[in-house]
Formats: sequence, structure tokens, C-alpha cells
Amino acid sequence: MNRPQTMLGAQYFRYGPPEVLQVNEVPVPEPRPKELLLRVIACSVNRADAIARSGGTRLTNGPRFPKGTGVDVVGEVVARGGDCSRHEVGDVVWGYVGMATMGTTGTAAQYATIDEGSVSRAPRVDDLPAAAALPLVGMTALQALRNRLTVRTDERVLVVGASGGVGSSAVQIAQLLGAEVSSVSGSDNRELCRALGVAQAYSYEALPDPRAVTAFDAIFDCTGVDIGRYRRYLAPGGRMATIAPGGLPTVLGSSLSRRRVSFLPVKVVPDDLAWIASAVESGGLRPVIDRRYPLADIARAHEYVATAHTRGKSVVIP
Ligand SMILES: NC(=O)c1ccc[n+]([C@@H]2O[C@H](COP(=O)([O-])OP(=O)(O)OC[C@H]3O[C@@H](n4cnc5c(N)ncnc54)[C@H](OP(=O)(O)O)[C@@H]3O)[C@@H](O)[C@H]2O)c1
Repeated sequence: MNRPQTMLGAQYFRYGPPEVLQVNEVPVPEPRPKELLLRVIACSVNRADAIARSGGTRLTNGPRFPKGTGVDVVGEVVARGGDCSRHEVGDVVWGYVGMATMGTTGTAAQYATIDEGSVSRAPRVDDLPAAAALPLVGMTALQALRNRLTVRTDERVLVVGASGGVGSSAVQIAQLLGAEVSSVSGSDNRELCRALGVAQAYSYEALPDPRAVTAFDAIFDCTGVDIGRYRRYLAPGGRMATIAPGGLPTVLGSSLSRRRVSFLPVKVVPDDLAWIASAVESGGLRPVIDRRYPLADIARAHEYVATAHTRGKSVVIP
């Protein structure tokens, strides 16, 4: 396939507010060995993108600029570096690039490179831009619920932050694992949680007395906000995990207690991406899309996701 020499890609030249983001004409990246070059169909906007741009991870991301933004992607393979064997030119794949390998552009661009070991075939659905919402949040929810919390059929699971990106996937994935799921969200989002199939939709502004609630076998926190209070809803022997950095003090403080809370960092696992793709194709998992932005509006997309009150995910279409 003929590919252009240049493309549009989002970049920033210093850490700072969303306004530091620019959309520039830059060279199309060249895939290195074991990398694919994708024509980006869409990427999602994650809280981690906004945190990295603002300098919150400067110790790991370093002082070299420009930097790109965007970590997950749905795209068509247009070229392969050496030693690629799993995907062909023309395949539509999805994946998670990861923050650590961020170059001068990320997936918020017209083209992006990605390690062949970080993708799987994308779900075969009409709305591929919406599917771009899922690689990072879907893998995070699946790994937390299935691997860390070992959720089993008929268990009672509480998802805290259920209306957000990870939470809206987790509510659906926990049901696919056979659990009875309840949710905690803001009161305005309880209806969304009910539409996702929860048994009980609680609001964090008016949590019930724990004595009035049948205890939960597993609690998955996606907020990091005041999470110690949810431990009171755990059944004896119940498990609780958080993915949010704000929950780390509770994680550390609980390490010796019976109601331990663990922290889960997501890992890119192509088999998990494939699991999520088949859940989407079967209709058991649907991306909850809040807003769709053109690449030119990347700064507005970052500003919105940083509010921590989005409903599901926002995607960027270059
Ligand atoms: N460890 C990892 O590998 C990993 C991977 C992915 C994400 N994360 C982190 O996980 C967190 C969630 O990510 P996300 O993409 O799901 O974020 P998000 O889409 O912004 O969702 C945030 C959720 O938090 C809820 N919330 C806000 N204030 C709250 C409060 N005071 N009490 C309870 N809930 C509250 C929101 O509900 P309302 O809008 O209804 O208020 C919303 O449902 C972020 O911190 C992100 O950086 C970590």
C-alpha cells in the first residue's frame, strides 16, 4: 500500500495543561523489527494520557521532547518491520502501546507503530472507532476481575466507579464471568449502571449502611477516592483490589489486615485482547462512548477526561 511521507500527530514540547498539545505535520513513523505500522482508525483518551502530559509521570517518562500522546488503538496494518509473523498487511488489529515506549507521536495520530506482541485481531464490528475505547480499560478490568479477584460464577461483586472507563467495562465483564454485580457511581450515573445490568446501583453520595447490604465476595475499585470505607462491605474472606493510584495509601495500610486491598497494574496480554474482542462480538461487552473528538480537538479531549466524571470513554478519530 502507498503510504504518505507525512501525517498529522498530536505532540507536546513541555509538560503542562491541555493547551500544550499541538497537532503537527510530522514524518510517518517507520516500523522497527517486530513492529507494525497502523493506519489509526481511532484511539481512546485515558486518564493516564492527561497525567503524563501534565508531568505527573515525568520521572519515568523523562525530559526528552517532543512527546506523543495516546496509548491504545484500533487500526489497519499498512506495513510490517522485520521478523513480524502474526499479522498481515490489511489486517485490522487493536492493542495497547503503553506509556513507557511513547515516542515523538503516540496513537493520537494518523499512523502509529506498535509492537506485534501488543495487539490482537480487532473485533469484527461496524463501529470500529467505538471499539477503540476498550483495549486498555478492557484488559485492566479483565485482569483485575478474573486474575486478581478470581471472580467466580454466582459470586457477588461490587464495582466502585462503575460509570467510568474501566468501571463500565468491569460491570459487563464481571457479569460475563457469571457474577451478580452491583455498582457505585455518582447519583446521576446510576441509570447508566442499571442499563449495564447491575443488580443494585448505589451512589457514593449516599452509601447504604453496610449492615443493610448482603456482603460482597469481591470489590473492584476504579476511583482511588476514600476507598477504605468500602472494605466494610466485604464478606469474610472477600477480596478487594484497586487500580487507581489514589488508593495506594489504603493498599499499604491494609497489608497486614484481614481485609487486604491489593493494587493491580495492567499488563499487555494479546490473549486478553482476543478475549475482549470475542466478548464484543458476542454482544456481552459494549463500549460505552461518551464523546467522539476529531484529532484537532485533542486538547479538549484531555481536558474532559481529566475531570474524572466522564460517562464511559471518549475516543479520538484522526
Ligand atoms: N493500574 C492500572 O493499570 C490502571 C489502568 C487503567 C486505569 N487506571 C486508573 O484507574 C482509574 C480509573 O480509570 P478510568 O479510566 O475508569 O477513569 P474515569 O473514566 O475517569 O472514571 C472515574 C470514575 O470515578 C468515579 N468517581 C469520581 N469521583 C468519585 C468519588 N468521589 N467517589 C466515587 N467515585 C468517583 C466517576 O463517577 P461519577 O462520574 O459518577 O462521579 C467515574 O465513574 C484512574 O485513576 C486511572 O488512571 C489504572
